[in-house]
Amino acid sequence: MDLVETLPASWYSQPDVYERERATVFRSAWIHVGFDSELESPGDYLTEDLAGFPLFVRRLADGSLSAFHNVCPHRAGPLVWEGCGHSANLTCRYHGWAFTATGDLLSARDFGAEVPQGIALTSVQVVSWRGLVFVCLDPSTPPLVEWLGGFPDALVDVPLEGYRFVRRTVRRVACNWKTYADNFLEGYHVPTVHPSMSRDADAMQYVVHQGDDPRWNIHTMPPRGETYFSVFGWFWPCFAFNVVPGGFAVERWLPRGPHEIDVIFDYLFADDAVDTDAIFTASEEVADEDARVSAFVQRNLESGAYDTGLLSPKWEPALAAFHKMVRYAVSATS
Ligand code: FES
Ligand SMILES: [Fe+2]
Repeated sequence: MDLVETLPASWYSQPDVYERERATVFRSAWIHVGFDSELESPGDYLTEDLAGFPLFVRRLADGSLSAFHNVCPHRAGPLVWEGCGHSANLTCRYHGWAFTATGDLLSARDFGAEVPQGIALTSVQVVSWRGLVFVCLDPSTPPLVEWLGGFPDALVDVPLEGYRFVRRTVRRVACNWKTYADNFLEGYHVPTVHPSMSRDADAMQYVVHQGDDPRWNIHTMPPRGETYFSVFGWFWPCFAFNVVPGGFAVERWLPRGPHEIDVIFDYLFADDAVDTDAIFTASEEVADEDARVSAFVQRNLESGAYDTGLLSPKWEPALAAFHKMVRYAVSATS
């Protein structure tokens, strides 16, 4: 059997690889950035830094969503500060240029000359799908529902619309986004890294179901006793979820440079869900364990003591598919 090699260690830290990934992975993909429920009223906004592209999503008066790079065309000032908030008008925080809700320049405060026509904010594709807000920086990427392919079928039985956003945790983890993705894409480490999870579930029966589309997969793990059947899922490049009783945990890991990510967990539950604190605590424990091992692996990848390894054909075929996509994206011309 031909064994598959991992990506070279240097790809997990080299700035030029990261720059190519920004252009060919994060610029072209649809990325989950938040929830409809965070943008209830016209003027409500949320911000995100998408692999070094600061952007914001804002609710318009007609109820639709708009999204723009958070970069003023004058001298690159911000339109909104970081975080969630409300902004009745779109006015640059630096020198006060004002823009229409659709991003066209309305007035250039005390500029001292006529401003040429056509100056506007750079728009970003945005759409809400089942209450989850996604953005895409590349205008040529197909609409989200088309881009998702068969993935929505995997969530058809999950009553997302009946769930409410309950809490969010954010972890800054000192690893490359691919180090964390690699870890998510296999159940090989579950018995060794997650002792309490493996007490409740049969980790030896962890299966990653990979269909024809290498951009997504579904993971299942049966319980040992009275606990629930675990279902996880992943979509390229950094969206993941976990179906839990009465709820849903959404996870995304966004690069903060070549060596760091923010791992953002959002927990959604039905109003009548039970044991939500226990589910939350168990999930956070697993997240801490994944963060710990990922950060250590990152240090080792950067140590000079490792170049490539061999992937288990039994446990790690999803990594082989992921690495193939990364190789393709990094070698593509942007
Ligand atoms: S940078 Fe926006 S008004 Fe100057
Ligand atoms: Fe894990």
